[in-house]
Amino acid sequence: MSGSSITGWGSALPEKVVTNADFEARLDTSDAWIVERTGIRERRIGGTTSSLAIEAGAAAITRAGLSPSDIDLLVLSTTTPDKAVPATSATVHAQLGCSGAAFDLNAACAGYVYALVTADAMLTARIGFDRALVIGSDTLSSITDFEDRSTAVLFADGAGAVVLEHRQDSEPLVLASDLGLDGSLLPILYCEHGGYLKMEGREVFRRAVRVTVDSAAKVIAQAGIAADEIALFVPHQANQRIIDAMIQRLGIPRERAVIVLDRTGNTSSASIPLALVEAADAGRLSEGDLVLFSGFGAGMTWASAVVRWHQ
Ligand SMILES: CC(C)(COP(=O)(O)OP(=O)(O)OC[C@H]1O[C@@H](n2cnc3c(N)ncnc32)[C@H](O)[C@@H]1OP(=O)(O)O)[C@@H](O)C(=O)NCCC(=O)NCCS
Repeated sequence: MSGSSITGWGSALPEKVVTNADFEARLDTSDAWIVERTGIRERRIGGTTSSLAIEAGAAAITRAGLSPSDIDLLVLSTTTPDKAVPATSATVHAQLGCSGAAFDLNAACAGYVYALVTADAMLTARIGFDRALVIGSDTLSSITDFEDRSTAVLFADGAGAVVLEHRQDSEPLVLASDLGLDGSLLPILYCEHGGYLKMEGREVFRRAVRVTVDSAAKVIAQAGIAADEIALFVPHQANQRIIDAMIQRLGIPRERAVIVLDRTGNTSSASIPLALVEAADAGRLSEGDLVLFSGFGAGMTWASAVVRWHQ
């Protein structure tokens, strides 16, 4: 048996805090509306996708007790690359001083789970990679129309990262995964080059609950476990009401869900690793714990995985 382990983690948030009161002063909205409909109280805005990715990636490498040159695979999940060409992972790879391969992956807000499953599969396939840095970094503020109250209050910036190390004697990291897409739902959430995010909020909400509940239930069944065996639930941080609906329908105890969106807003690829890093730093994870990840995003994409936490 061989598999990979999460041996390091780190995150990065811009310094600038934008509160609901800041929006109240500029738009026809209120703190009460935003909190009630989304759960978001404040968010961080600033930086570039590469600068946040570098900060989070460097912290994860340090935490793993490694040097950047020990990393031979870098997978960067992002929807907001710095440049059209080359991939933002090239900038991150060069500035951190990693070795080996690097590429970007875009599966919108489900991207981090896609990236984690992809990197783990590449390590366990034994095709020349031993240590992967898996980063989720997004600067959604760069594609958000701050005059549009229906999207401005939701989206923000950040990055989170983990280091995966392959070990010959390790048990598998990913016990079950489900990656999917329904391209017929593309029109409900998209952004043209040079434009801003366009979203049919109510429809995204309705579909998100349905696809993530189905996807999470599928991986729980595939892993052969019961929902109450999940020690930590790390959902995409888009809307508190979506997370509440998932918890209720899946039968996961509420206190096992990690919530950071009240302070971060929706940071797309960064949302799941930001939540994971906060939980790991707070000591909410023990050896052998089962962790459920579940995300959804534009496309419409979705991705869930059951992971066994071992260092
Ligand atoms: C966007 C979202 C918060 C809106 O909440 P909702 O309860 O669905 O609200 P609705 O879209 O039905 O809008 C209700 C009213 O609030 C208004 N509204 C929208 N944004 C507002 C804001 N920031 N402040 C005050 N009112 C607002 C709407 O204009 C609408 O007014 P109307 O009834 O006069 O037309 C919610 O639909 C949502 O979170 N959807 C999912 C979005 C998401 O997760 N996207 C990212 C995917 S990765």
